[in-house]
Amino acid sequence: MILVTGGAGFIGANFVLGWIAATGEPVVSLDKLTYAGNLGNLASLAGDARHGFVHGDIADRAAVQRLLAEHRPRAIVHFAAESHVDRSIHGPGAFVQTNVVGTFELLEAARGYWMELAAEERERFRFLHVSTDEVYGSLAEDDPAFTEETPYAPNSPYSASKAASDHMVRAYRHTYGLPTLTTNCSNNYGPYQFPEKLIPLVIANALEGKPLPVYGDGRQVRDWLYVGDHCEAIRVVLERGRPGDTYNIGGNSERRNLEVVHAICDALQEARPREGGYRALVQFVKDRPGHDRRYAIDAAKIRRELGWAPRESFASGLAKTVRWYLDHGAWVAQVKSGQYREWLELNYAARSAA
Ligand code: NAD
Ligand code: DAU
Repeated sequence: MILVTGGAGFIGANFVLGWIAATGEPVVSLDKLTYAGNLGNLASLAGDARHGFVHGDIADRAAVQRLLAEHRPRAIVHFAAESHVDRSIHGPGAFVQTNVVGTFELLEAARGYWMELAAEERERFRFLHVSTDEVYGSLAEDDPAFTEETPYAPNSPYSASKAASDHMVRAYRHTYGLPTLTTNCSNNYGPYQFPEKLIPLVIANALEGKPLPVYGDGRQVRDWLYVGDHCEAIRVVLERGRPGDTYNIGGNSERRNLEVVHAICDALQEARPREGGYRALVQFVKDRPGHDRRYAIDAAKIRRELGWAPRESFASGLAKTVRWYLDHGAWVAQVKSGQYREWLELNYAARSAA
């Protein structure tokens, strides 16, 4: 079996569901259930003997040690993190605690467990660390895309904390020989994404007739990848990646934020027409401090060495995503708790129309 941290979050839940469907191999998910964790994301696995859930913190080394001793996984796939850049600006402490300290504690527990394994199991064991393209910093319009050789230059507390965790993973490989793999991926979108991130936020606001907040001039570029493609890439890296290596994962779908917002508006207009159209709801607001201008991933290595390429185009992935949110109004309503409203107030109240 494998252990997945952060399995109740957006990408983690998509990964767990996809893993069981694709391989049938049992999974235990370890998740602290922060505001971003939602057991409802895994509801379709209720009663399925191939999935177990443990409520806990990756920073609790003793608890992780017990879990490893009990379940004896052949791999750990590590998603658990604080993941939202705007929240890291308002409160960086939680990012250092989970992303840096938590990853360190998890690595320590994994190292102790791995060292005690029999030779064959030791050889087979993998620790796969899921990271982000944001560790490479910001690109100018004409710069080449990030490769695995691009120097780290993180700009936000979120990306700095992820960069620190990547460095710890690298050090555990180099110093102790732990068989690690690191993936650095671009912006994901798809089912179960918490509506604090651009795409689900815009869909949710549009359906309520609320303003669609576009930071700054809306010309920042992200490289969008459908979450199912990311999950498939992780499965491929876990099975065939070279221990100690890092793999960049991207969608080859660079879009300006305003283009993304307009594409969502147009997809919604087709599915659920609104008088005056959804584009009329776009509102330019005060920019994110230190906002990275452009991210782009060069995914040539994973394509060349492991044969992975995304299946979805931005158009097909976005159409699926919009459809999913239209069909899952109850899920959206459930995650929009009081806490979520407090976040909207904190992040957007001071961002009056620019
Ligand atoms: P998310 O915020 O939706 O989910 C994070 C999950 O981790 C939640 O279920 C949360 O409860 C859990 N968690 C947080 N702190 C924990 C702790 N201390 N112990 C145990 N569980 C804890 O995040 P996501 O968007 O699914 O991202 C998952 C991973 O992928 C993160 O490491 C993120 O940096 C990385 N990543 C995300 C993207 C993206 O576009 N979303 C892109 C590249 C990489
Ligand atoms: O690049 C990978 C990263 O992508 C992941 O590591 C992060 O976990 C994930 O959150 C994401 O980071 P971004 O900051 O790029 O994602 P976000 O959805 O917050 O914002 C996408 C872009 O849209 C960014 O340029 C900011 C802008 N934006 C965002 C929000 C929430 C707006 O213009 N308005 C908004 O209200």
